[in-house]
Order: sequence, then structure tokens, then C-alpha cells
Amino acid sequence: MTTEAAMPESVLLRWVRAEGMAEIEQYRRAGGYDAARRAATELTPDQVIEMVAASGLRGKGGAGFPAAQKWKFIPKAAPVKYVVVNGDEGEPGTFKDRTLIEGCPHLLVEGILIAAVTIGARKVYIYLRREFYRGRRLLEAAIAQAREAGYVGERIFGSDHAVEIVVHSGAGAYIAGEETALLESLEGRRAMPRQRPPFPAQAGLYQQPTLVQNVETLCHLPVIVGLGPDRYKELGPPALFSVSGAVARPGVYEAPLGVTLRSLIFEHAGGMRPGRRFKAAFPGGSSSVFLTEADLDVKMDPDSLRQAGTMLGSAAVIVMDDSADMVEVMARAVEFYRDESCGKCTPCREGTVWIAQIFERILHGRGRTEDLALLDSIAAGMTGTCFCPLGESVPPGLVASLRLFRDEYERRIAVGAVHVC
Ligand SMILES: Cc1cc2nc3c(=O)[nH]c(=O)nc-3n(C[C@H](O)[C@H](O)[C@H](O)COP(=O)(O)O)c2cc1C
Ligand code: SF4
Repeated sequence: MTTEAAMPESVLLRWVRAEGMAEIEQYRRAGGYDAARRAATELTPDQVIEMVAASGLRGKGGAGFPAAQKWKFIPKAAPVKYVVVNGDEGEPGTFKDRTLIEGCPHLLVEGILIAAVTIGARKVYIYLRREFYRGRRLLEAAIAQAREAGYVGERIFGSDHAVEIVVHSGAGAYIAGEETALLESLEGRRAMPRQRPPFPAQAGLYQQPTLVQNVETLCHLPVIVGLGPDRYKELGPPALFSVSGAVARPGVYEAPLGVTLRSLIFEHAGGMRPGRRFKAAFPGGSSSVFLTEADLDVKMDPDSLRQAGTMLGSAAVIVMDDSADMVEVMARAVEFYRDESCGKCTPCREGTVWIAQIFERILHGRGRTEDLALLDSIAAGMTGTCFCPLGESVPPGLVASLRLFRDEYERRIAVGAVHVC
């Protein structure tokens, strides 16, 4: 494929696409574990952190926080530190982490080792989405192979570093992906977000300094240490996008960060389904504000999308065509947040229920003209008042849909009024 944005080479997905990468021998033959060996035996923690800083790597789980900066927050002198891998992958439309884990579990294990030896953590917990049964099996087999090779356990790669890795299946709630709720769940409590500060880097798992990092973020580390940050940056830097919905070829695509939405949809994902036109897309899962045709040339990177009033989030592009009913799309999204609200704070717990009730009556022909102002007013009441980003992510998309697709709401209400008469 030749596009302005096509990758000169694939550096992450090549590990996933190659045959047999769940086997350590195959992975090693392709150069696997060389980067972790270097991090454990040749490079100092500061050198690795500098490489990650120079690469510009930002978290791939949703918040897009610069990875090296987070590593620097971990107090060097703390006697006990943890790495916690966020493999909950609950954001609707996101499936890149599962693709990485199932395609090449050793890439994640190697990334984990690099992070652990760099921050000085001896224990790593992988919090894996419960439904990832196959991923868990492959990951545990990969960890066992790495242990046998001397890469996990005591004195890894013959160095003074010791790293233990434990896989834990999640509790099946979307909020458990939020890093502090995840830590609560890992400690055996109900997944509810914690007050921040303190941030996990200061007081995380069991109140010890903890690096929480997304699966994909960690999978970039062997590439950065292996190729060097300059080459990594020249390659895009590379990023994974989960593209789903009304496109010809849904799937996980690797493209340079900053690829346009147009290129992702019309080149990488093969365009719209036959006979259909593009209508809208969520650029970063259903928690992001959707983009419309006027935004097709927006660059898919955290800063450009923030300027466009939305976010890259987990880079899950959910595409809708001209057959999509935006009232139904928003109703479905709101029902999800209503069901997944952890109930800790009132604006989110009550607001999502009220909004879902209004959508229900609009969809069932009982909508009232004043419902649109009521939706706007509930959204305003939730803005800035929710305890965590789950509740905060509801109002922007709702308000945008009321502005951009108001005619669809009004039509629904008008048709309902005729039926009721
Ligand atoms: C409601 C909610 C759900 C989240 N779900 C996930 C998830 O499934 N996986 C993930 O990596 N991050 C998720 N996050 C983001 C995490 O809180 C955190 O920012 C991330 O794990 C940090 O890793 P990173 O810096 O490598 O992205 C979620 C955040 C929120 C608010
Ligand atoms: S915003 Fe929602 S999910 Fe977050 S703490 Fe409040 S109730 Fe829980």
C-alpha cells in the first residue's frame, strides 16, 4: 500500500503477523529479548529512561501521558516498587492489546522486563481482561518459557535484577481499567477509583510506588531500545489503531502517529462498505467526541485531536456510515456508561440514568421537545463534577450530537408526537 502515511515498515505488528511468535525460540531467532538483555546488563536505568523520553512515547491506554515522565516520578530509593500492566482493554472498539498479547506474548513480556529493571521493580502484576482466556493461556506459557530461559525470576539475564510476573484475571467491569480502580480490584476490593493525589507512582499497589502502564505502551519498549529512539521516531513514531464499524476491512492497523483519519479509513481499512458514505467516527473509543466528514483530515495524535475538541484515547476508531441513526448511537453509548458507572459519585450515577431514561422515551415515541434542553442541562450538571473520567466523558459526546445531529433528534420527537396523537 502506498499512502502519504503508510508505514515504511511495520515494527509492532510484524511480531504479531510472523508465524510462531508465541514460542520463545522463534521470538529469539528474530532478535527477541536482545533489548531486555541490554536493559538488564548494559544500560543504566537513566539511559533507558532517556531513550524512552527521546522517543516521545506516550501512554496508549487512554490518557496519553508521556511514559518517561511517569517513570521519573517513581522514587528511586523506595525499597518496594511494582509494575502493573493494564490489560483490561474495556474501552468499546479497542482490540489492539488483545491482538498483541495473542499474536506475540513475548513482546509484552520483554517490554515488562525493560520497565521493571529500569524502575527497580521486582514484582509485576498483569491485570488481564477476564474474557481474554486465550491471551492468558499464551501469556502464562510465554512467562514460563522466559523463566526457563533465565529471563524471569532471580538474576535475570545473569544480572543482579530479579523480576517475578503474575497474571491476574480482571473483574469484568469497564471501570476496572481506570488505573486506581484497577489497583483497588487487584487488592481484592470493588473496582472504584481512588482520590488522586497521591498518584500510583507515589502510592499505588499496597500503597507502594507503582508504574501502571498499558499493554501496547510496554510493547513499544523493545522496539525503542532495539532500534534506538531516533529511528523509532523516524518511523512515525508507530502507533496501533483499532478500526471497527462500517469499514470494508475492520482490524488493527499500524500507522504513524498523526496519520489522518481519512487515510486510516479509506486506505488502511479499505474504505466504507460498498454503497455507503462516511457519516461520523469516534477517534478514541466511545468515550471520545465523534468526528464528522469535515474532520476527515484531522491528524490522529493526542495534541491534534485535543485541538479538534476530542481525544485519541485508546486509538479505537469506530466508523459510522450514512445508515447510522445518531440518536440510537448515542443511546447505546449512554446505556453503556449507565451500566458501567461504579456509583461512587452522584453526578455520574444519577446523571447517566436520567440521560438513558430520556433517550429511552425519545426512542419509544414519547420524546418531548423540551427533552433536548433537559439533556443539555444534565450534561452541564455533570461537567466538571464527576469523580473520574468515566462520568466526565459522557457530556462532551452528548452535547456534540445534540448540536451536529439535532435534526435527527427533532425528527424522532416529531414522529413520536404524531404516533401518540
Ligand atoms: C473508565 C476508564 C477506563 C480505562 N480503561 C483502560 C483500559 O482498559 N486499559 C488501559 O490501558 N487504560 C485504561 N484506562 C486508562 C488508565 O487509567 C491509565 O491511564 C493507563 O492504564 C496508564 O497506562 P498508559 O500510560 O500506558 O496509557 C482507563 C481509564 C478510564 C478513566
Ligand atoms: S464518575 Fe462514575 S465511574 Fe467515576 S467514580 Fe464517579 S460514579 Fe464511579
